[in-house]
Amino acid sequence: MNARRTVAVMTGGGDAPGLNAVIRAIVKQGVTQLGWRVIGLEDSFDGLLESPLRIIDFDRDQVRGILTLGGTILGTTNHGDPFKFRETDGSVSDRSTDVADRLKLLGVEGLIAIGGDGSMGICARLMKERGVQVIGVPKTIDNDIPGTEITFGFDTATAFATESVDRLHSTAEAHERVMVLEVMGRDAGHLALHAGLGGGADVILIPEIPFTWEAVLGKLMRRRAHKRHFSIVVVAEGAKPEGGQVLERTNADGRKSHGGMGQYVADEISRRTGLDSRCTVLGHLQRGGTPTPHDRVLASRMGHHAMELARRNEWGRMVAVRGNRMDSVELTWLLTQPCRQLPLNDDAISTARALGIVFGDEAV
Ligand code: F6P
Repeated sequence: MNARRTVAVMTGGGDAPGLNAVIRAIVKQGVTQLGWRVIGLEDSFDGLLESPLRIIDFDRDQVRGILTLGGTILGTTNHGDPFKFRETDGSVSDRSTDVADRLKLLGVEGLIAIGGDGSMGICARLMKERGVQVIGVPKTIDNDIPGTEITFGFDTATAFATESVDRLHSTAEAHERVMVLEVMGRDAGHLALHAGLGGGADVILIPEIPFTWEAVLGKLMRRRAHKRHFSIVVVAEGAKPEGGQVLERTNADGRKSHGGMGQYVADEISRRTGLDSRCTVLGHLQRGGTPTPHDRVLASRMGHHAMELARRNEWGRMVAVRGNRMDSVELTWLLTQPCRQLPLNDDAISTARALGIVFGDEAV
C-alpha cells in the first residue's frame, strides 16, 4: 500500500484576515477528502526548528469554526527566517538545512507556505538551496504581491478603513475640521485609494504619487471657499511629499515600519493654513477582525488551489489570481519582481480624479 501523502502548512509574516480560511480549506480537502496527513508548523518555521517540535497533526475537528476568525491558529512571526534564525540565547544561525531534514523526518513531501513577499522569498531560497518542495499562497492587506491581482485580507482592511472614513465624516463636519486618516499599505497605495474613493475623501496621498503642499492645501482652501468647512484626507503610510522621505520608526526587534506621515500631514496643514486638523492612525486595527465574505471565499479558493497544485505535484509555484480565476506563477520569478504598486493608469485613480479627489500632483 502507498504511504499516506503528507504536506506541511505554515503562516509567515504579518497576519491578514483570511489566513484561517486557507488553513481550513487545506485541512478539509487534504484530510477529509484526500485522506492525506496535514501537519501545521506553529509560529512559522519556529515550531519546526525548536526542540521539542511545535507542530499540529491536523484532524478535521481542529479546523471547525475557524472560517470567521481573524489572525491565524498556527501563529506567525515577522522574524522567522531559517537562514538567519534567532536562537533563544539571542545568537543568529543558518538553520535552513534543519528545515529540510526535519520535514523529511516527518515524512513531509512539501510545504504550503501562506505568507507575504518575505515568506515567499525565504521559501524560494529553501527550494533552490535546500531542495524543499514549496507551494506559496500570497497574503497581505497591502495587496502588493506581484503575480496576483488580489490578495485576501485586502477587502477586509479596505472595508474597515472605509467605515473609518465614514465615521470621521460626521465628526469632521460637526467640528469643521480637517480629518487626516493614516492607513497601512507599506509602499503601495491600494488600501488608501480604495478606502478614500469608497469613503468619499477629498484628498488621497499614496506612495506612487509624491504630493506638493500647494496642491493639497489648494483643495482644502477651495472647499472652504465653497462653504465646505471640513475635509477628509486619507494618507497611505508610505506617502511622501515631492523631494521628501517616507517616515519610518524602528521597532524593538530592530525592524523598520512606515508610520508618522498622517500626523506630519495634519501638523503641516494646521501650521500652513491655521485650519484645525486632527490625525487618526488606523494601524493594526486594519489587520484584525473577521474576514469579509469576499476574503473568506478568496482565501478558501486559494487554499483549495494550493492543494490542487500539490495533488498534481506542481511544486515551486505561488497561487495567483488572474482574470478572477485561480492560477499560479513560478516562485523564483517572484524574487526578481518589485512590490506591485498601483499603476498610474489604474481606472480607480482616474475615477477619483474625475470626482474631484486630489492626489497632490495637480498643477495649481
Ligand atoms: O505588510 C502588511 C503590513 O500591515 C503593512 O501594511 C505595514 O506597513 C506592516 O505590515 C506593519 O508591520 P508590523 O506588524 O511589523 O508593524
